[in-house]
Amino acid sequence: MAILGQYHVLGKHREWLPGELILIHGECFTCLGSPKLEGKVALITGGSSGIGESAARLFAKHGAKVVIADVQDELGHSVCEELKTESASFVHCDVTQETDVENAVNTAVSKHGKLDIMFNNAGIAGTPKPNILDNDKAEFEKVMSVNVVGAFLGTKHAARVMIPARRGSIISTASVCGTIGGVASHAYTSSKHGVIGLMRNTDVELGQHGIRVNCVSPYVVLTPLVRDFFKLDDDEVNRLYSNLKEAVLKAEDVAEAALFLGSDESKYVSGHNLIVDGGFTIVNPEKYSQWLIGEQILTYGECFTGLNSPRKALITGGSSCVGDSAAGLFAKHGAKVVIADIQDERGHSVCEELKIESASFVHVTLLKKKMLKIVLTQLLLKIN
Ligand SMILES: NC(=O)c1ccc[n+]([C@@H]2O[C@H](COP(=O)([O-])OP(=O)(O)OC[C@H]3O[C@@H](n4cnc5c(N)ncnc54)[C@H](O)[C@@H]3O)[C@@H](O)[C@H]2O)c1
Repeated sequence: MAILGQYHVLGKHREWLPGELILIHGECFTCLGSPKLEGKVALITGGSSGIGESAARLFAKHGAKVVIADVQDELGHSVCEELKTESASFVHCDVTQETDVENAVNTAVSKHGKLDIMFNNAGIAGTPKPNILDNDKAEFEKVMSVNVVGAFLGTKHAARVMIPARRGSIISTASVCGTIGGVASHAYTSSKHGVIGLMRNTDVELGQHGIRVNCVSPYVVLTPLVRDFFKLDDDEVNRLYSNLKEAVLKAEDVAEAALFLGSDESKYVSGHNLIVDGGFTIVNPEKYSQWLIGEQILTYGECFTGLNSPRKALITGGSSCVGDSAAGLFAKHGAKVVIADIQDERGHSVCEELKIESASFVHVTLLKKKMLKIVLTQLLLKIN
C-alpha cells in the first residue's frame, strides 16, 4: 500500500495510509490525492523517455507496479532506479517484434501475477517530408510498424492475459494527427489514424470480456520526438499556436490523462479517444495562421492554415531589395501580391517576373496619412 506521509501521535511515529483520517490540532484531515492505481500492474511501452517516462513516474506514484518496455535500455533502467526497485522494472522490447512484446507481457505477469494496464505508447515521428513524392516506402513502413503494428501487438498480447482475468485497461497513445490532417508527415498521420481505428475495433470485441480500450491523443509536447521532428526548442514550443492560453502542454499532463484511463475512475469509459489539446482540433483552421514559426512549422502549417488559399498582401516599397524579395516569397507561397511603390518601372518588372495573375503594381507616394487611407481603399477594391 502506498504511503502518503508520516506523522507523530502520542510519541509514536506513524505512516499515513490511503483512506485514513487523521486529526491535527482538532481538525479532521482526509487524504485527498489518494492513490488511483493501488495494487495494479502496468506495462508501458516507450516508457524510457517523454510521455511514457512521465506515465511510469505517475503510475508508480499512484501505487502501481510498473514495467517499462523500450529499446532504450540505459534510459529505461535509470528511470527504474529513480523509482523504487520494487515498483518499477525494465524489459528490453522492440514493439515491432512480436516475440519481444509477448515477452514483455509475460515478464509483467510472471513478476507481478497479472496485467491490469497496457499502455501502448512507443512511437516515432519519421522524417518531416510534407511532399508525398519525397516520401519513400521504407520510411512509411517504419513509422507504421512502430506506431500501428506496435500498438496492435501490445493490444493483442495484453488481451491474451486480460481475457481470462475478465478485466483490464488498454490505452494507446494516438495524437491530434489521428483526428486531423496536415500537422505532421503522411506516415505519422496515417499511423495515428490507424491507432484510433485499432482502438475502436478492439474495443468492440473486448468489451464482452470486461476490457476497456481507449486512446489518449496529445497536441504538441516538447519531448525528444518533437525536438527531432519539428526542430523546436522550449521557447519555440511556448510560442506555438494554442487555443488555450496561459497553459503549455507537458508530458505530465498526458500522463494524467492516461492515469485516468488506467484507473477505476474511468470504469465506464471505453472506446474513447481522449484528446488532450486545449481545443486545438475543434478550432476554425483560419486561426492557425498565427502558428508560423520556423520553416518546418510553416510547411506543415500551410497544409491546414488556409495559407494555400490565396492571401492578399500589400507590400509598400516592393519594387526593390527587401520588399522585392518579400513579394517573390509571398507569391511563391500562394499570395496575391500588390506592390505599392514610387519606382514604377522596377515595380512593373518585378510583377512581370512573378506571374501576372499573382502580382500587380500601383504607384503610391506614402507621404500623408489621408493619402494612405485612400490608396488602401482603392487597393482593397483592386485585390477584392
Ligand atoms: N510529443 C508529442 O508532441 C506527441 C504528440 C502526440 C502524440 N505523441 C505520441 O506520444 C508517444 C510518445 O512519444 P514522446 O513524445 O514521448 O517521444 P519520445 O521519443 O520521448 O518517446 C518515445 C519512446 O518510444 C521508444 N520507442 C521508439 N521506437 C520503439 C520501438 N520500436 N520499440 C519500443 N520502444 C520504442 C523510444 O525509445 C522512446 O523511449 C508516441 O506514440 C508519439 O507518437 C507525442
